[in-house]
Amino acid sequence: MMKEVDYRGWAKYLVLLMRVAGMESRRSRIQGEKLCEFACGTANISIILSKLGYDVTGVDSSGDMLKVAKEKLARRKSDKLHLVHHDMVTYSQKESFDRAVCVYDSVNYIPTSAALGCFFGNVYEDLKPGGVFVFDASLESNSLNEPSLFVQRGKHKGVFYHRKSLYDPETKIHTTYVRVKKNGRVIEEVHREFVYNLALIRKLFSAAGFEERFAAGDFTMLDANDYSERVHFVLVKPDHD
Ligand SMILES: C[S@@+](CC[C@H](N)C(=O)[O-])C[C@H]1O[C@@H](n2cnc3c(N)ncnc32)[C@H](O)[C@@H]1O
Repeated sequence: MMKEVDYRGWAKYLVLLMRVAGMESRRSRIQGEKLCEFACGTANISIILSKLGYDVTGVDSSGDMLKVAKEKLARRKSDKLHLVHHDMVTYSQKESFDRAVCVYDSVNYIPTSAALGCFFGNVYEDLKPGGVFVFDASLESNSLNEPSLFVQRGKHKGVFYHRKSLYDPETKIHTTYVRVKKNGRVIEEVHREFVYNLALIRKLFSAAGFEERFAAGDFTMLDANDYSERVHFVLVKPDHD
């Protein structure tokens, strides 16, 4: 199902958002810049960003996702991308990165606001002063407005999938049941996403020390609001103490 996502377009959008924060995007200037992708999954975005010239570290807590990512990397023989098996909430590499990204609802997998605050605190520590962090979060509108996503089934390149989503407005938990069948093998997964509101997300990253440059709604360059479905935040670690 992830194959249907336009990762190239998403990576382009991330680079555009970094420009909003005053970061260079010319290939000649970004060569060797250190970028961390938190929750990199199977490295779709990481690979595109490393091709652009960033020296990418991809962090994910799922051994299965990283296994697929490593198979892709083995085919490419790239030394500008390395993968780390770690929980992003507790990953800590003091002032190692110029930029950080975390996309596709990955922060929604963090189950409590305390853990989300801890994540923001560690990303802040991981960045060099002046560093930029771009991440997205799925808001409640995304869970309430998109009934078409609630049941999906189909076939893509020989893989049958069935996906069913349920949202509980009381607990703010969005649960997705996924069943995939490939070569007679069935894989079943349950994904739980925790929906945070705009004000709480802002409160938590501000407490970590970040300054907000922009919060863009729904893949546009317009300001996000509570009715946005997905928000991309562009944050800066100030260059002073
Ligand atoms: C929806 S997938 C997105 C993957 C990737 N960013 C992409 O766009 O293809 C969410 C990812 O978050 C990872 N993840 C969830 N909680 C995590 C955590 N605490 N630390 C690191 N990775 C986590 C999962 O393993 C999964 O790869």
